[in-house]
Amino acid sequence: MKEQQPLIAIVTGGASGIGLAIAEKFSQHEIFTIVVGRDSNKLKAAQEMLGKNGKTIQFDLTDLSKIPSLVNDIKKEFGRIDVLVNNAGINMKKEFTEVSDEDFQTILHTNVNAVFSLSREVVKIMEVQGSGSIINISSMASQYGIPKVIAYTASKSAIEGMTNAMAVELSPKGIRVNAIAPGFIATDMSSKALNGDEERKRKVLGRTPMGYLGQPEDVADAALFLATNSSKYITGTSIRVDGGNAVGF
Ligand code: NAI
Repeated sequence: MKEQQPLIAIVTGGASGIGLAIAEKFSQHEIFTIVVGRDSNKLKAAQEMLGKNGKTIQFDLTDLSKIPSLVNDIKKEFGRIDVLVNNAGINMKKEFTEVSDEDFQTILHTNVNAVFSLSREVVKIMEVQGSGSIINISSMASQYGIPKVIAYTASKSAIEGMTNAMAVELSPKGIRVNAIAPGFIATDMSSKALNGDEERKRKVLGRTPMGYLGQPEDVADAALFLATNSSKYITGTSIRVDGGNAVGF
C-alpha cells in the first residue's frame, strides 16, 4: 500500500520522556506530530522542538467525555489520523496492602480507560480511511513480576491484551495495532521508581544483559518502525525494548 505523505500522528504524553523522543523522531522523518499532554511549560518546549512539523494540544486524557471532541477537532484540522501512539501513563509505588481502591482506579483510569476511549475515537476515523497504525506503550511490568507496582502492572497487562484483541478485530479494516514493552528507560518516571536507590539500580542493571539503562530514543526507533509501512505485515505484536532483560526481578 502506498503511504500517505506526510503521515499525521498523535502522541499522547509527548511533552516529556519517551513520548517527547517519539515526537522528535517522527518529526525528523516528515511525520506531522500532534502532541497531547498536560503540562503547559513542557508543551511549549515541545512545540519549539517540533516547529512546523507538529502541534501541541493541552488536554487531560482522564477527561474521557471530552475525548470525542478532541479527536473530531484534530480530524477537522488535518483531515486524517494515520498513527496513534498511546504513550501517556502514570505509575505509583506502594506496598501491595497499602494500595487503596482509589489508587488502583487512578492508575487504571489513565493507563487503560483513556487508552481505550482515545483509540475507539481514532479507530472510527482510521476505519473510514482504511488504514492506520496504533502503538500502545506497555511495559516489561506486563511480562515480569515487579514488586510494589500492582496497579501499574495490571494496567500494562491490560494494554497487552487490548493490543492483541484490537489487532485481530481491526486487521480487516487496514488498521495495525502493536505494543512496545520498554524495560528501564532513563526518564522522570524511572528515576522516581528507582528513587535514588543505588542498590536497586545496581540490581536492575545486573539483570539487564546490556548493562545500562535504555534511552527514550531507543523506544522512539521502535515506534518509528511500527508507525510506517516498514512494518506493514506486523500487527498484534509486542516489541521488547529492554536491553535483553529476560531474567525478571
Ligand atoms: P514521563 O512521566 O516522562 O511521561 C509521561 C507523560 O504522560 C508525561 O508527559 C505526563 O504529563 C503525560 N500524562 C500522564 N497522564 C496524562 C493525562 N491524564 N493526560 C495527558 N498527559 C498525561 O514517563 P515516561 O517514562 O516517558 O513514560 C512514557 C510511557 O512509557 C508510559 O506509558 C510508561 O508507563 C511507559 N514506560 C516507561 C518506562 C521507563 O522506564 N521510563 C518503562 C516501561 C514503560
